[in-house]
Amino acid sequence: MILLRRFITLLLLALGLTAHAADWTRHDTEYSPKGADTCLKCHDADSDTDTFTAAAIFKGKHAQRGNAHAPFGPGGLQCEACHGPGGRHSAGGSKKKLTTNSFKPDSFLPVAERNAACLACHQGEQRSAWHAGAHARSDVACTDCHKLHTGNDAVRTKASQPEVCFTCHKQQRADFHKTSAHPVKAGRMACSDCHDTHNAGSATAMLKRPTVTQTCQSCHADKRGPFLWEHAPAAEDCTQCHNAHGSVRNALLTKSPPLLCQQCHSVAGHPAVARTGAALPAASGGTAAGGSVFLLAGSCTNCHSQVHGSNHPAGTKLLR
Ligand code: HEC
Ligand code: HEC
Ligand code: HEC
Ligand code: HEC
Ligand code: HEC
Ligand code: HEC
Ligand code: HEC
Ligand code: HEC
Ligand code: HEC
Ligand code: HEC
Repeated sequence: MILLRRFITLLLLALGLTAHAADWTRHDTEYSPKGADTCLKCHDADSDTDTFTAAAIFKGKHAQRGNAHAPFGPGGLQCEACHGPGGRHSAGGSKKKLTTNSFKPDSFLPVAERNAACLACHQGEQRSAWHAGAHARSDVACTDCHKLHTGNDAVRTKASQPEVCFTCHKQQRADFHKTSAHPVKAGRMACSDCHDTHNAGSATAMLKRPTVTQTCQSCHADKRGPFLWEHAPAAEDCTQCHNAHGSVRNALLTKSPPLLCQQCHSVAGHPAVARTGAALPAASGGTAAGGSVFLLAGSCTNCHSQVHGSNHPAGTKLLR
């Protein structure tokens, strides 16, 4: 009987008739007689722990009764839509006989098969490029980020999301705690404002827009231009001067001026003015203190304030 069933499944798979007749079902073949009612006989309030309540699955959208695509919708497989057939497990009822998908890291199922249980319903739209992304390639599980037996999935709430990501991304935790940072720590922004962690698409670093600069400009529209007088690097790539996450320097800068500017502009001299410092009269750029006026506090941006581009008719040198 079991063999016949497997044969039919394989045949359907070969014909491409079952979208994802997922492999994870192979460890148990029988569905429980009464669906969730069977499961909830044992996974009741007594078996709940501080961190887990089986019945809390009913607080989320998976519990929708009217949605034919939902586990608890008409004809849905209920608990077993995610956990796989649990007939044998229900009969045995012990961990030793555990043949269901527990979604746990120590599960007998590899990540790809655990994820297949979710992708069977969620392959479309947002996750169409899941398999090309850095998370899929690194064997990150859907359940490393999502918790489903809860009314409040932390990763989908702005304020609690970063902590979920920081469990793996320690460097980013440090970056967002620097003196200048996008207001993630304050809960005003989430990683998902810039990243789509499901989709690789063609974007660098799984960003929501194709390029870094387009991502930045989606919020900082005033830096998009077009400008009468462009500053080439600002039109090209914001990260030539800014860190995306955080920096110990003012305004998320990668370096402070004048060093920032001098990566590309000659250190040796300023146009039309000699700059050897104290030896020069003030009118020629010398200062009593002995430094060049071009390198004083605020330095380059004191005069070249329009570093992102200028719309002033006389703004060719980005001075106004
Ligand atoms: C006869 C009682 C019984 C029934 C019925 C039952 N279970 Fe279990 N289940 C258990 C026990 C006992 C454990 C082991 C719990 C433990 O040791 O932490 C377990 C473990 C699990 C686990 C894994 C938890 C872990 O710690 O890895 C999952 C998932 C699970 N059951 C799902 C189901 C589903 C889905 C159904 C219905 C198809 C079901 N169970 C029906 C008793 C039952
Ligand atoms: C039987 C199909 C099915 C399976 C299997 C399934 N889901 Fe869903 N899921 C749905 C439906 C339907 C919704 C509701 C969509 C809506 O209303 O927008 C949903 C909603 C969600 C949501 C949004 C939750 C909410 O409450 O708004 C998340 C996150 C999610 N699923 C993740 C998962 C993960 C992770 C897995 C695997 C552990 C999984 N799903 C397995 C059908 C499924
Ligand atoms: C790296 C963490 C992470 C992983 C891994 C992850 N997700 Fe998500 N998921 C999120 C975040 C963050 C959101 C909220 C996105 C937003 O608000 O724009 C989300 C939203 C969702 C939603 C609801 C919104 C929607 O797109 O309809 C579903 C469904 C979902 N994820 C399913 C999955 C499935 C299935 C997998 C595994 C294939 C998965 N997720 C893996 C972080 C993750
Ligand atoms: C939409 C998919 C989905 C459905 C439907 C679902 N679960 Fe789960 N279940 C999960 C995921 C994912 C986990 C891993 C822990 C988490 O995300 O909360 C889990 C974990 C569990 C565990 C192990 C908990 C632990 O940490 O020891 C048990 C037991 C369980 N589910 C029982 C059930 C029962 C009973 C039902 C039906 C009433 C059910 N599940 C319905 C996805 C689902
Ligand atoms: C379970 C661990 C884990 C969690 C949780 C996790 N990530 Fe990742 N993430 C990884 C791994 C592993 C990689 C690939 C290796 C690397 O780049 O560090 C990765 C890569 C990335 C990348 C780089 C992608 C690329 O193409 O270079 C981004 C962006 C990212 N994660 C964002 C997030 C966000 C946002 C969250 C929270 C919503 C999150 N991650 C949660 C493990 C995780
Ligand atoms: C303001 C937009 C923005 C926010 C918010 C944001 N990121 Fe990023 N992230 C980026 C950009 C842009 C890059 C690419 C940087 C590059 O290519 O120089 C990136 C790159 C990454 C990378 C790849 C490695 C690296 O540092 O280059 C990881 C991992 C990452 N982000 C994780 C996160 C996590 C986790 C959060 C939330 C705590 C987050 N990001 C919030 C814009 C953002
Ligand atoms: C989702 C919207 C959003 C995106 C995308 C975004 N930012 Fe921001 N940015 C903000 C917000 C909000 C602030 C904080 C403004 C405030 O505090 O009033 C900010 C602040 C800044 C600041 C000033 C920080 C300071 O300490 O003064 C800089 C510089 C900056 N962003 C650059 C970037 C760059 C570069 C990118 C692309 C990698 C980017 N932003 C992408 C929303 C965004
Ligand atoms: C050539 C270096 C450079 C490039 C490239 C650059 N910036 Fe800046 N940006 C700066 C400097 C320097 C400051 C600080 C200005 C100050 O102190 O007055 C700054 C400040 C900012 C600020 C905060 C103050 C304000 O004017 O709102 C934002 C936001 C910002 N930049 C966004 C961007 C975005 C978006 C891009 C890409 C389109 C970008 N920057 C490209 C050098 C640059
Ligand atoms: C990544 C390289 C790079 C960085 C960093 C950079 N610039 Fe530029 N800058 C350029 C390029 C390229 C041009 C265009 C030169 C041309 O058209 O001849 C330019 C043009 C200019 C011009 C107009 C020059 C002219 O002849 O019209 C000024 C002024 C200027 N930059 C100032 C600055 C200042 C101030 C900073 C620091 C805040 C800075 N730049 C940082 C690459 C850079
Ligand atoms: C005291 C004001 C002032 C400061 C400070 C200053 N500049 Fe200028 N800069 C000017 C003026 C004025 C011009 C226009 C000169 C002209 O039209 O001949 C100019 C022109 C330029 C040009 C265009 C060169 C060309 O060939 O036309 C560049 C590049 C430039 N500055 C870079 C910088 C950098 C880098 C710094 C910081 C190390 C800096 N400036 C600091 C006033 C300043």
